[in-house]
Amino acid sequence: MVASRKLLLAMNRKDFLRTSVFSAFALSTFGFIVKKEENFSGDCETTNDILGPFYRDNAPVRNNLINKDMEGQEVLIKGIVYGSDCSTPLKDAKVEIWHCSNKGEYDNTSDKYQHRAQWYTDENGFYSFKTLLPGKYLNGNQFRPAHIHFRVSAKNQDELISQLYFKGDPHITSDPWAKKKSAENRILPIVLEDSMGNLVVNFNIYLS
Ligand SMILES: [Fe+2]
Repeated sequence: MVASRKLLLAMNRKDFLRTSVFSAFALSTFGFIVKKEENFSGDCETTNDILGPFYRDNAPVRNNLINKDMEGQEVLIKGIVYGSDCSTPLKDAKVEIWHCSNKGEYDNTSDKYQHRAQWYTDENGFYSFKTLLPGKYLNGNQFRPAHIHFRVSAKNQDELISQLYFKGDPHITSDPWAKKKSAENRILPIVLEDSMGNLVVNFNIYLS
């Protein structure tokens, strides 16, 4: 029942978006098609991925996951959480992340909850996490690509469970989840935004 309801909702959403696309264009007085920007919504929804076996709830509320015991390459993960209209930033959305160490290990037991955190978006929908780039671990006899797990929830929105991957990772094409078409907008470049060599990944999240 739940699955069929979800399918129905998804179909309704697609119909709505199709309608929105068509209504976003109109014939000008000269017969040219012109685009009307107002009320236009694209199909922006961030896609789901597997939760995986290593999720732990009650991660510490923090957005700096780095401590002096850790080794690895620092990176800032940041973005804005938007609602289902693809344009309204959501305040107080809960963003949880977890990932493995640079040696491919999850902290599944310690009180430190290493490489795990939850944080809330500000009044502009903005979130950020300072953390270390994850390594890779084996799934059977092949490595999963480096990834960061996300779990995002906000008032009146469906919860999102997803993963972020990194552009150029050679293990993406052999990974059952990262190679899916639905993951392509979650394979993101690591960029140099500032003048000081800091690494940044921008991941805007669109809930449904
Ligand atoms: Fe994982």
